[in-house]
Amino acid sequence: MAKHWCMVTLWIVYDLLVLNVVAFNLDTQNVLLKQGDPGTLFGFSVAFHQQLSPARRNLLLVGAPRAKHQNQVNVTGVVYSCDLNSTSDRCQPIEFNNKEFLTSKGINNQWMGVKVTSQGPGKNVLACAHRYQEGSSSRYVPHVLTGQCYLLRDDLRVGEEERRWRRVVCDFEHLSRRQKDHEWFAYCQQGHGASFAKDNTSLLIGAPGAYQWKGIVRMERLDDLDFDSEEPRETGDIEQFNHKLIPLQRNSYLGFSVDSGMALLKQGELTIVSGAPRGGYSGQVAFLKTDPVARRNLSVELVLSGPGLASSFGYDVAVLDLNNDGWEDLAVGAPEFFVKDSMIGGAVFIFINTKGKHWEKIVPIELHGNKESMFGLAVENIGDINRDGYGDIAVGAPYDDSGRVYLYCGSPEGINRKPAQILSPGLKTVNLFGYSLSGNLDMDNNQYPDLAVGSLSDHVFIFRYIVNIL
Ligand SMILES: *[C@@H]1O[C@H](CO)[C@@H](O)[C@H](O)[C@H]1NC(C)=O
Ligand SMILES: *[C@@H]1O[C@H](CO)[C@@H](O)[C@H](O)[C@H]1NC(C)=O
Ligand SMILES: *[C@@H]1O[C@H](CO)[C@@H](O)[C@H](O)[C@H]1NC(C)=O
Ligand SMILES: *[C@@H]1O[C@H](CO)[C@@H](O)[C@H](O)[C@H]1NC(C)=O
Repeated sequence: MAKHWCMVTLWIVYDLLVLNVVAFNLDTQNVLLKQGDPGTLFGFSVAFHQQLSPARRNLLLVGAPRAKHQNQVNVTGVVYSCDLNSTSDRCQPIEFNNKEFLTSKGINNQWMGVKVTSQGPGKNVLACAHRYQEGSSSRYVPHVLTGQCYLLRDDLRVGEEERRWRRVVCDFEHLSRRQKDHEWFAYCQQGHGASFAKDNTSLLIGAPGAYQWKGIVRMERLDDLDFDSEEPRETGDIEQFNHKLIPLQRNSYLGFSVDSGMALLKQGELTIVSGAPRGGYSGQVAFLKTDPVARRNLSVELVLSGPGLASSFGYDVAVLDLNNDGWEDLAVGAPEFFVKDSMIGGAVFIFINTKGKHWEKIVPIELHGNKESMFGLAVENIGDINRDGYGDIAVGAPYDDSGRVYLYCGSPEGINRKPAQILSPGLKTVNLFGYSLSGNLDMDNNQYPDLAVGSLSDHVFIFRYIVNIL
C-alpha cells in the first residue's frame, strides 16, 4: 500500500528512563506525536492555543515554513492547526483565504510559519513569514525582502480590514526612505522575533534587517481601527528614522527575539526585551520602553552585553518570575557560547531581577550545555510546571545527539542549576529535537501546564504532566 504522507498522530512508547535525571513530572511514556510532510520543516515553530470560539478546543499550532500551499505548487510555508481534542490524525492547514494571499507573487518562498504565537486563551494568533517579498517600483531593486505577519482572530481567520490583519513593519513609509540607502529597509525580514506584549494591548515585531541589519523592534496596537488609539512605535522613531537613536552597531540583528514583561524595570509598566545575537560581537539584549515624549519612538533603556566572543547571546529570550518575588527575571540563550578547551557548548544566562534596578550589574547564573549542542537556541517560559510556586523554564539543545530539552525549576534563590528532567526524542528518524518550544498552558485539564517540542525533522512532540499517584 502506498504510504500517504499526511499528518499522523501516534501514541508512541519511549524508553527514556535512562535519560531522566530525576523521575520528574512530564510523562515520557505517552507522548503525543504530530508528523508533517517530509522536508517541510514542520515544527520550526510551535504554539499552544486555547480556542474559545467557535467552540472550546485545545490546539497546537505548528509552523512548516517550507510546506506547499494548498494549490500544491508553490512553496509558501503553512501554519497547521492540530486539534488536541479530536481523535483525528490530521492537522489542518490554516487557510489564509484572502485574495491578497493567493495572488501575491511575493508569497513564494516566504517562509510562512517561521514564527507562530498565541496571545492567550480566546485571544489572537500571530503568524509570520520573514522572507515575504514586496514588489518594488524601482528597477534597481526588483524585490525587497520585507517579510509580513498575519494577525488572526481566535477562530484562526483574518478579520475584515486588511490593515488590521496584515502587519508589515517596513511599509511604504519606510521604503520611500530606502532611496537614501536601499540597505535601510529593503531587507527588514520581519517576524523571526514576534510576540504579544504582556500589557495585552499591543503586538511586538522584530525586523532584524532594518538599518543595515542593526535591526528594529516595532510596537503596534492590536485595536488600531480606533482612530484615537496610539500610532505604531519603533526603535529609531518612525518620524525621525534615526538609526543613531538605537545604541547598537550595524549587523546586530536587534529584533531577532522579542519578549516583554510588566515587572522588569517598574511594576505595572511594560518593558520590551529584544535579543540582538550579533550585537557587540558576542550578542546583546536591549530593554525598550515607550517614549513619553516622542509618540513614535521606542526608547532603548539599557543594553546587556553577552560574555564570550560570538556566543549569540540573545538568540532567544524569556521573561518570567523564577523566584516568586513579584519581579520578573530574564533568561537569555547564547547557543554558541563556549569556553576554550572545555566541553561546554551553549549557555543560558539567568538574570535575577534586583527590584527593577542595576540590571547591568547583575551577575547572571549560568546554565551550560554539552559541547556543540547549541544549548539555548530555544528558551521558553513553561509556567510553574511542578506547581511549587516558582516559574520554570525549558531549554532546547537541538544538536545534543538528536536533540534534547532540559527543564529547570525556579527556586527562592532563582533557579536550580541541576536539570529536573531531560527530554529526548527516542526515535531514530528525528533530529534537531528542541528547535522550538511552547508551554505554559494546560492542554489536558489536569491543572498542570504541558509542553510542546518541535524538531527540524517534521515531528512535533507534546509532553503532558503526569500526576504521580504513589
Ligand atoms: C476540548 O477539551 C477541553 C479540555 O479537555 C474541554 O474543556 C473542551 O470542552 C473540549 N472541546 C470540545 C469541543 O470537545
Ligand atoms: C507559483 O509558482 C509558479 C512557478 O514558480 C509561478 O509561476 C506562479 O506565479 C506562482 N503562483 C503564485 C500565485 O505566486
Ligand atoms: C493579560 O491577560 C492575561 C490573561 O490572558 C492576564 O493573566 C494578565 O493579567 C493580563 N495582563 C494585564 C496587564 O492586563
Ligand atoms: C527616542 O529613543 C532614544 C533611545 O532609543 C532616546 O535617546 C531619545 O531621547 C528618544 N526620544 C526622542 C524624542 O528622540
